[in-house]
Amino acid sequence: MMTPIPDWMNSINEMDDQEFQRWSRLLKQRTGMDVKYARKSFLTTGVRLRMRELGFTSYNDYYQHLLSGRKGKIEWTTLVDRLTIHETRFLRHPGSIKLLTELFLPEYRIDEDHLQAWSVGCATGEESYTLAIALDDYLKRSQRNVYYGVVGSDISLPALAKARKGIYDAHRIKNLPQQHINRYLSKKENGQYQVEKALRERVCFNLLNLLEMDQDVIHKMDIVFCQNVLIYFDKDLRYTILDELVKHINPGGLLVIGVGEAINWKNPHMQRLHGYDALAYTKESSDEQ
Ligand SMILES: C[S@@+](CC[C@H](N)C(=O)[O-])C[C@H]1O[C@@H](n2cnc3c(N)ncnc32)[C@H](O)[C@@H]1O
Repeated sequence: MMTPIPDWMNSINEMDDQEFQRWSRLLKQRTGMDVKYARKSFLTTGVRLRMRELGFTSYNDYYQHLLSGRKGKIEWTTLVDRLTIHETRFLRHPGSIKLLTELFLPEYRIDEDHLQAWSVGCATGEESYTLAIALDDYLKRSQRNVYYGVVGSDISLPALAKARKGIYDAHRIKNLPQQHINRYLSKKENGQYQVEKALRERVCFNLLNLLEMDQDVIHKMDIVFCQNVLIYFDKDLRYTILDELVKHINPGGLLVIGVGEAINWKNPHMQRLHGYDALAYTKESSDEQ
C-alpha cells in the first residue's frame, strides 16, 4: 500500500530532476556525500521537512537562504544534520576492538606514556566511548601507567552535542559486556544510561568536516577509527580522505576502517594488518621512513 502524502507536503512541489541535481551537487561539494538518484526521496524529504519548519515553499528561496552569509551557515549545520546518517552503537564492530586490544596494543611502542585515539565521523559518540572503554580496560589489565585520550569528530553539531552528554538508550549499549556496563556507565531513573564522568573526561568532541582536514590543527594520533563513514563518499574521495588521515597518524600507529569500505586502497606508508574480521593498517615505524 502506498504511504499517503501528508497535507503539508502538497504545499511544496515535488523536487524535479534538475532541482535534485542542484541539491545533491551542493551536498557533495560541502560534505563529500554522494546522494545517488535512487536516493532522491531521502534527500527530498529531508529538504522539504526543513523547508516546512522554516516556512519556505520554494526550493530556490531556501537554496539562496543557505548561501546567504551567517544565517545561511547556521542553517546549513541543521540541514546537514538532517541529511546525514548517524546510526551507531557501542561496540558496533567487535572485531575492530579485538584487533586493537589483542593484536595492535601489545606490540605498539607507546611514546612518552601517552596514547591518543581518534574516532572520525563519531556521530553521537558511541564509537568514541567504546574506544575509551577498550583503552582504559586494556591499560588497567596490563598495569601500564599510560595516559590516554580520545577525540571524536563529526560534521553534525547536534550529534556532537548528544555525544558530549554521553546519555544513551539501553539498546545502544546492548553489545557491551555486562562488566563494562557496570564499570563505565550508570543507569538513570528513566532507564537510560550515562557514561561515567571519569570516562567522559577522557573524551572530547570537535566539529570537523572531513573535506577540510587540511585547514584544521590535528595532533598526531596513535589510533584512528574511521568506520561507517566512507560509505557515503565516492571511491576517489574515500582514497583522498584516507591518504589525508595517514598524515595524522604517528609512526607505528593504527588505522581501522569499516570492513568493505575501501578494500583496494593502498598507501606507501601503510601496511595491512590481517585478522579479527577487521580492515586495519599500521603505519611504518619511524626507522623505516
Ligand atoms: C553512520 S555514522 C558512523 C558512526 C560511527 N563511526 C560508527 O561506526 O558507528 C556516519 C557519520 O559520518 C558523519 N559525516 C558525514 N560526512 C561527514 C564529513 N564530511 N565530515 C565529517 N563527518 C561526516 C555523519 O554526520 C555521521 O555522524
